[in-house]
Amino acid sequence: SSRYPRYTREEVGRHRSPQDRVWVTHGTDVFDVTDFVELHPGGAEKLLLAAGGALEPFWALYAVHNQPHVLELLREFKVGEL
Ligand code: HEM
Repeated sequence: SSRYPRYTREEVGRHRSPQDRVWVTHGTDVFDVTDFVELHPGGAEKLLLAAGGALEPFWALYAVHNQPHVLELLREFKVGEL
């Protein structure tokens, strides 16, 4: 079994702002990207549209994320699994 804690989508959804931490999911992985919000090349405001939920619908529209280095960066922020 995984060495990461398990979270529900409801728990992820409680983390939608820097004050409450900013969590997102990708596949079944959960990430706390709070410390990346202000560093996002596309801007904090755009990243926060996905706060508390899945990245896929947004990344489908912004194909710039479809590169190995983006997933490698995201992996650094993993905190759990669904
Ligand atoms: C660019 C990461 C969420 C919109 C980028 C780049 C990275 C990145 C690394 C630069 C890629 C490159 O140029 O090679 C992330 C991460 C996210 C996230 C880790 C979530 C945790 C989002 C969301 C949106 C978005 C939700 C839109 C609603 C953009 C846009 C750019 C960009 C428009 C292009 C910026 C430019 O080059 O002018 N993102 N992103 N991103 N991202 Fe994100």
